[in-house]
Amino acid sequence: MPKWDLLLTDVQIATMVDADGYGAVGSPDALAAVAISAGQIAWIGTAAMAREESADVVRSLGGRWITPALIDCHTHLVFGGNRAAEFEQRQQGASYEEIARSGGGILSTVRATRDATADELFDAALPRANALAREGVATLEIKSGYGLNLATELRMLKVARRIGDETALDVRTTLLAAHTVPPEYSGNADGYIDFICGELLPAVADAGLADAVDAYCEGIAFTGPQVAKVFNAAKDLKLPVKLHADQLSDCGGAELAAQFKALSADHLEYTSVAGVQALADADAVAVLLPGAFLTLGETQHPPVQALRDFGVPIAIATDCNPGTSPICSIQTIMMLAARLFGLTPAECLGGVTRNAAKALGLNDRGTLAVGQRADIAVWNTSHPRELAYWHGTPQLAETLLAKAMLA
Ligand code: NIG
Ligand code: FE
Repeated sequence: MPKWDLLLTDVQIATMVDADGYGAVGSPDALAAVAISAGQIAWIGTAAMAREESADVVRSLGGRWITPALIDCHTHLVFGGNRAAEFEQRQQGASYEEIARSGGGILSTVRATRDATADELFDAALPRANALAREGVATLEIKSGYGLNLATELRMLKVARRIGDETALDVRTTLLAAHTVPPEYSGNADGYIDFICGELLPAVADAGLADAVDAYCEGIAFTGPQVAKVFNAAKDLKLPVKLHADQLSDCGGAELAAQFKALSADHLEYTSVAGVQALADADAVAVLLPGAFLTLGETQHPPVQALRDFGVPIAIATDCNPGTSPICSIQTIMMLAARLFGLTPAECLGGVTRNAAKALGLNDRGTLAVGQRADIAVWNTSHPRELAYWHGTPQLAETLLAKAMLA
């Protein structure tokens, strides 16, 4: 008989192993149990069977639901300053694109981020990361993209990694140098792309500071051919790619992401059916970002039904950033994905577990199954459907995380 490290008994489990529904194991009349060894799930069965087995520590969770710990797969959580003044301008009628074209928008955060020390960036980002952790997030992606020069992009990525070092969160970093054209290259986007491909990307890869490479394909950012250059350079360095695609217009972003076998294409409000088909063929994840849709007052909805029809996995994320999604609540995002995009509560939960893991290229988490990482969220709700329903009230009882178990 195996001797497990930990046995969690008297639980109901939303395993999230199926593409539909919760993959529930256990019921109030027949509670389940999960055994953990070496930070991995070692066994799942009934509580009645589990009592026969042995473990170093046995904990009854009193019938509570457990799910995979949550994953926020798209954030820009490290940045200097904030953009509340632009929020005020937008409330008075200015558009995001107008503000961006007049030197505000992303560029104003670039100025503030370049001016900030690593400690200042860390101190500002940490409460945001902690807010996500308090809602059950265990894996967090953080993008660069507000430095746009070598020193500041490296600083952002190091600060992001430091958040992973100093919290219970597992942080994945993404280089988003192709976010906008920095002032030094004003009017010379191609020159900046050459700098990214020739200097910045190799230096970041050399320092081992990025797990993936992202770009912003949009009228106010970079063209398809410019993004393709960055993606080719990333592929040469064996880094997976992702894309901010079709957020404000259909620029063929989904097709471009698919062409490069991207892990994910994100936003997708203006993606065509052909783009959805391309994502399906490439086995890419669609990451929907309802916080940005809400904040920008968008009216064009992402093609949710087409994504379902073609079987494209849908993830959702906070997109936490100072311009378009000043939101550090995964629970709010689940509620918004349901209310704004029509996702079911089960799709919302799959979007921050199984499909979010896939969007980060991680196959060791996002579901509760034997062999998976023991990243577990324990809830006070009477059913996991409540996670996309409540808004503003904490539902998490605790998280049990492999990182802490192995420390
Ligand atoms: O995901 N779309 C581009 N990037 C961010 C916005 C960044 C900003 O406005 O600062 C986004 O929405
Ligand atoms: Fe984003």
